[in-house]
Amino acid sequence: MSDKATLEIHGKTYELPIVVGSENEVAIDIKSLRNDTGGVITIDPGYKNTGSCESAITFLDGEKGILRYRGYSIEELAEKADFLEVAYLLIFGELPTQEQLDKFHADIKHHSVVDDDVKKIIEAFPKSAHPMGVLSSLTSALTAFNPSSVDINSEEAMYNAIVRILGKFPVLVSWTMRKKQGLPLEYGDDNLGYVENVLKMMFKRPGKDYQQNKILVDALDKLLILHADHEQNCSTSTVRITGSSHAGLFVSLAAGISALWGPLHGGANQAVLEMLEAIKEDGGDTKKYMAKAKDKNDPFRLMGFGHRVYKNFDPRAKIIKKSADEVLGDLGVEDPILDIAKGLEKEALEDQYFVDRKLYPNVDFYSGIIYRAMGIPVEMFTVMFALGRLPGWIAQWREMRLRKEPIGRPRQLYTGETQRSFKDISKR
Ligand code: SDX
Repeated sequence: MSDKATLEIHGKTYELPIVVGSENEVAIDIKSLRNDTGGVITIDPGYKNTGSCESAITFLDGEKGILRYRGYSIEELAEKADFLEVAYLLIFGELPTQEQLDKFHADIKHHSVVDDDVKKIIEAFPKSAHPMGVLSSLTSALTAFNPSSVDINSEEAMYNAIVRILGKFPVLVSWTMRKKQGLPLEYGDDNLGYVENVLKMMFKRPGKDYQQNKILVDALDKLLILHADHEQNCSTSTVRITGSSHAGLFVSLAAGISALWGPLHGGANQAVLEMLEAIKEDGGDTKKYMAKAKDKNDPFRLMGFGHRVYKNFDPRAKIIKKSADEVLGDLGVEDPILDIAKGLEKEALEDQYFVDRKLYPNVDFYSGIIYRAMGIPVEMFTVMFALGRLPGWIAQWREMRLRKEPIGRPRQLYTGETQRSFKDISKR
């Protein structure tokens, strides 16, 4: 294959370099296009055909349903690794030795104390505030209590910022949930594992010991691994472009949390449960909702279905669907919502509209069923997505900064009014 792409514009021919990735993906490098052609640019709303960067963190093949973190398949990592190992792998590029992992966890625990004044910020929110809005605000507020911005030329400074946010974020997550429930904002137990501690902070009731449940620990650990990174999705791209202005790590993450909140993105896991509940209230009439999803005049979409990249099964959805059966079975939870979800999936996979558009269940379709069985309120589902995605956002931000990538500033095609003269108000 030639290493050049040829472009002809108004009778003139231009050559652009072709770059090939380690998985043989091919890209046309258009860095010089505007200069070479005297101003011609490309345009691609939603960046459906445009790569924003080269990255060595996550590879996914949407046609084949492949997802790998630093070369390891999501299936193997979900089966054999724990969340903190995967976080280390995503951020630093290699699976940690036991010694590296123990130090990583110890450093995270050392930095898990959140300034008590943050509680004053939480107290100011109404209980009705959506947890994603609270979490984004608190993450941004962390900058006020940790003002020194990361010196990316210092590995130590970068490492300290990373373990600091990995330590404090789970506290913010649990305090966000406890605020809504009117529960005291407490810490967990540093003697516990990372995920065990998250569960204890979220669910410990005042005056009662918290009994760990291995089923919940394993289920949450797996869910967090499955959500940990997903290359240049909407929220990760937000974290990268925010950080490209050299804004700090914590505020870049706060921007990512806000982007993730949208129902077309991470907010879909909450929207899926609300949709399944509505179908249940409607007597399980999935056909009505399928018709709504296909009706161009109806803004309703089948939440948890479709994906910008996966035109095959989302490998994460397959693992989560299996885990949902196991968790509900182990917990002895009978949830009619799971049966409705399975029925809806079966119908959609046999429906020409969905088949033609290659719409399959995505990561959000079944995850909420497990979160609900774990006793997590539906408004906290996207917060749990953010907790999982945190190491991926950190890894992508760090890669972008270490590679000294330029500030993100897309071009546009102007289609507004051409020049015209000011008109006095009396003449308008
Ligand atoms: C996540 O990017 C990532 O990696 C994201 C994520 C991650 O880990 O970070 O995987 C997490 O965000 C998963 C997606 C969660 N969102 C949802 O479940 C919301 C429902 N899905 C859709 O809104 C939609 O599928 C998107 C937003 C996910 C993808 O939209 P695209 O790629 O912009 O595709 P599109 O809107 O152009 O749709 C193509 C066609 C359209 O029909 P036509 O105009 O061709 O006739 O498919 C239709 C769409 O109307 N379509 C759907 C549909 N999704 C797409 N029709 C009904 N129901 C749906 N869910």
